[in-house]
Amino acid sequence: MDASQRRGWFCMQAQLQQDLEQISREAAQLIASARTVDELRAGESRITGKEGPLGKLLGQIGKLPKEERGPFGAAVNAAKKKIVEQFAAARAALEQAGDQQAATGVQTFDSTLPGPVVPRGSVHPVTAVQWEVEEILSRLGFVVVGGPEMETEYYNFEALNIPAMHPARDMQDTFWLANNWLLRTHTSPCQVRAMERLGAPLRIIAPGRVFRYETEDASHGNTFHQLEGLMIDRNISIANLIAVMKLILSEVFHREVKVRLRPGYFPFVEPGFELDMQCNICGGVGCPTCKRSGWVEILPCGMVHPNVLRFGGIDPQAYTGFAFGMGLTRLAMMKYGIRDIRVLNSGDLRPIVRPEKRLGAAIVEKE
Ligand code: DAH
Repeated sequence: MDASQRRGWFCMQAQLQQDLEQISREAAQLIASARTVDELRAGESRITGKEGPLGKLLGQIGKLPKEERGPFGAAVNAAKKKIVEQFAAARAALEQAGDQQAATGVQTFDSTLPGPVVPRGSVHPVTAVQWEVEEILSRLGFVVVGGPEMETEYYNFEALNIPAMHPARDMQDTFWLANNWLLRTHTSPCQVRAMERLGAPLRIIAPGRVFRYETEDASHGNTFHQLEGLMIDRNISIANLIAVMKLILSEVFHREVKVRLRPGYFPFVEPGFELDMQCNICGGVGCPTCKRSGWVEILPCGMVHPNVLRFGGIDPQAYTGFAFGMGLTRLAMMKYGIRDIRVLNSGDLRPIVRPEKRLGAAIVEKE
């Protein structure tokens, strides 16, 4: 090797050194960024494969002067061996971590993240209104009583002065059971049961489920809730009745509610009234919920018929009283703007949507 050959040899050595260092840096980067064994394999063949930087260097050997081939090949192969070993070690480490996770079942997850949100639910709208009315009336000294949903003809009709010819006794309105028992069609049977048990003076409310054999639509269900009220004392008058009714409605709606009083016939009261409130859903303009009248029957009421007092064992000469049968389901619909009674028992917990939206544009109502 003469002087110029020697110089060339040194230059080649320095260049090769630089190239190999660059290649090993690339390899280290690929190892550090690989997340899976497959990624490591791909990275390794990118560096050491025929088309990779190491492969290309090895391909140059044939073009070198004879005396340079040996040391050049030795340097490249030494670098390649080191890189192959580094990839193999990284693969082994990843595989071991995977095995450990599978064996111990320990997941790598962030335990400081909040857990999934559990929906907490809330009371049913009818229950919410029921509790509210119970609270309002308990402030006036009314106590809450119950009664059976499966009733006798006596308490549901007879003791309430409902004659055999009354339409309420019709097969179409009542679910009759065996032996002339029935599913109570209203909460009014609780009146006579309470009079029998507690006597006069008396202030009770009886909320509960009632049943009607009816075709269902937006404002009629076969199962709904009422709240019966009864106040019996000396000198109870219609003025007391109206005062209590107004108090209930203004408290429930937190505002003055427009009401109208019209005569109503119920065999167990005399005189009897229908107390209607202006429809809260359409504001009195008319919609399916109020049967397009703008008014909703919400509080039928009246002065207790002397016959009913007698059935309950109370002397009508000494005592008078008023009664009301509030439509709790209707009240909840008015308060929360629920347009269709059927969603209340549907079990669908999504926010209430207008029925025409649920059915696509199948039902389009014009108001
Ligand atoms: N029980 C009646 C019904 O379901 C409603 C009713 C009307 C109850 C007048 C009363 C009352 O207490 O006084 O249709």
